[in-house]
Amino acid sequence: MKARDLPPKELIEKLKEEHKELPDQIDDAILTFKTGNLSGAFPLIADIREKIGQHTIDEEAVLLKIIIEKLGKEAAEPYIEILQAHVKITKLVDDAVESTYTGWSETENLLLSLKQELKNHHAQEEETFFPKVLQLIS
Ligand SMILES: [Fe+2]
Ligand SMILES: [Fe+2]
Repeated sequence: MKARDLPPKELIEKLKEEHKELPDQIDDAILTFKTGNLSGAFPLIADIREKIGQHTIDEEAVLLKIIIEKLGKEAAEPYIEILQAHVKITKLVDDAVESTYTGWSETENLLLSLKQELKNHHAQEEETFFPKVLQLIS
């Protein structure tokens, strides 16, 4: 997967939209499989994984790169730390997809943990990470 080819400011707008969409998509996936529609729920969860995959690549390969180039690796450390949440987020979404192959018993808990993890992470990005990028490119 490659980073999206958008100017950083537009990319940030896009990423913020996705922050708003993801919790609803997760709720939708949970509701769909709880009503017994497993074949409908699977593609919803796969789409969430796809979206998060692209999203994290854009943040790391485009935005964090700008911060490291402009500030140097040492001063970029707090921003690198914020994006370390991507490891846990990626693991949760991979496990959620995996859980659909093994009986769906863990799927709801995994998706709820993912939603909580994203909530905290998105708040940090919107309060600290995106504003820093915007400041550095203005
Ligand atoms: Fe992120
Ligand atoms: Fe994000």
